[in-house]
Amino acid sequence: MAKMWAGRTAGETDQIADDFNSSIHFDCRMYQQDINGSMAHAAMLAKTGILSDEDADAIIDGLEGILKDLNSGKLEFDLSCEDIHMFIEQVLTERLGDVGKKLHTARSRNDQVALDLRMYLRDEATEISSLVRELTETLVAVAEKNMGVVMPGYTHLQRAQPILFSHHMMAYVMMLLRDRDRIADAVKRMNVSPIGSCALAGTTYNTDRIFEAEKLGFHSIAWNSLDGVSDRDFCVELMSAIAILMMHLSRFSEEIVLWSSWEFKFIELSDSYTTGSSIMPQKKNPDMAELIRGKTGRVYGDLMALLTTLKGLPLAYNKDMQEDKEAVFDSVDTVKVCLKVMIPMIATMKTLPDNMRKAANEGFINATDLADYLVKKGMPFRTAYKISGQIVSECIGKGLVLETFPIEEYKKHSELFDNDVYNDINIENCVEKRISAGGTSSASVKEEIELVKKELEK
Ligand code: ARG
Repeated sequence: MAKMWAGRTAGETDQIADDFNSSIHFDCRMYQQDINGSMAHAAMLAKTGILSDEDADAIIDGLEGILKDLNSGKLEFDLSCEDIHMFIEQVLTERLGDVGKKLHTARSRNDQVALDLRMYLRDEATEISSLVRELTETLVAVAEKNMGVVMPGYTHLQRAQPILFSHHMMAYVMMLLRDRDRIADAVKRMNVSPIGSCALAGTTYNTDRIFEAEKLGFHSIAWNSLDGVSDRDFCVELMSAIAILMMHLSRFSEEIVLWSSWEFKFIELSDSYTTGSSIMPQKKNPDMAELIRGKTGRVYGDLMALLTTLKGLPLAYNKDMQEDKEAVFDSVDTVKVCLKVMIPMIATMKTLPDNMRKAANEGFINATDLADYLVKKGMPFRTAYKISGQIVSECIGKGLVLETFPIEEYKKHSELFDNDVYNDINIENCVEKRISAGGTSSASVKEEIELVKKELEK
């Protein structure tokens, strides 16, 4: 079939080259945005007198018909068209004749692709953002439900100090709040209309770009036509925000994997989010969490791919930029499916407080509190730190823990020790004493939860 752009060239393009060049098999998902953009364009052309009202009405009706037929499945994508923009225009022209050919006045495909992608991604960003919110709320609910459950907090994956399990959950909540912020911020800059850049230099027609942008819900227009069609930083920004979000989901997934192992057994995932082994009958594998962790790699890859594609491009549009869509679509699809799996996986996960508490009993995670006890009684911290270390070492040799180390033995290390030491090293007390803002005591964590809830109400 003759190309829409046939004119300058008369020869047919090679079939392999045609397939190589075509993007309709992946940009067809933007058909709705393409049609909405064209409707607004026709309205602008009529408003400015570039097209007659009659022609614009016919075009808008025609586009509505195409949208309806695509939605109902009556009309199928013609994969021999180069891209979604060509396809819609071709169908419109088939249906309306010469009037259809007037739609492309004062715009270019370079504007269209930049426009459609911005509109598509701002919707996707909204959806991702509400999924992040749902995960945030799920975590807050888990934190509230498990209030009082004590576990060891770790550094270097070594038991460090006792914390509330809820405190650990709320750490992820904080990360997710920032993720949502980052996405909203990316949308702010994305929500600027490039339409009317007219390939690169603007146009001689007396267009009204602001009218068209407002019709499509943009808050502003790209004030430089070269920039409007040639940058894809809005994709890169969203993909960066998604990559960071995936990094958070991946770290959490790693903990889910660890915590569901026999070595930890802090949680048990619902059967709905685990798999068995084909050979080992006892296995219950946390595949979903592992996949989220795994898919983080490909999302990083998408971001790197687009950054690399863009880095050497002269202004303005270059065909290299067609590579933007598969990368950014993959990022948004992947993060959405990961969130959709993670939300119910966390909501249905069973916590095993006894095992967490047992782990908190081992590992001398109250040793800091032992040192603090001596400091409270007047000893300099470094000396207290050293004595506490020696006591831990002695306990290990004798198979004791700080709670079972006899008072007479304590006294041999310092005259400052008294029976009240057992109160200070009691694990629950160690948690509840950490009342600093952002600390792990129930009071601090409850305060944090209230703050987050207020933030979520905004
Ligand atoms: N399919 C192209 C893309 O995705 C649309 C813009 C093409 N413009 C052009 N002059 N070849 O980037």
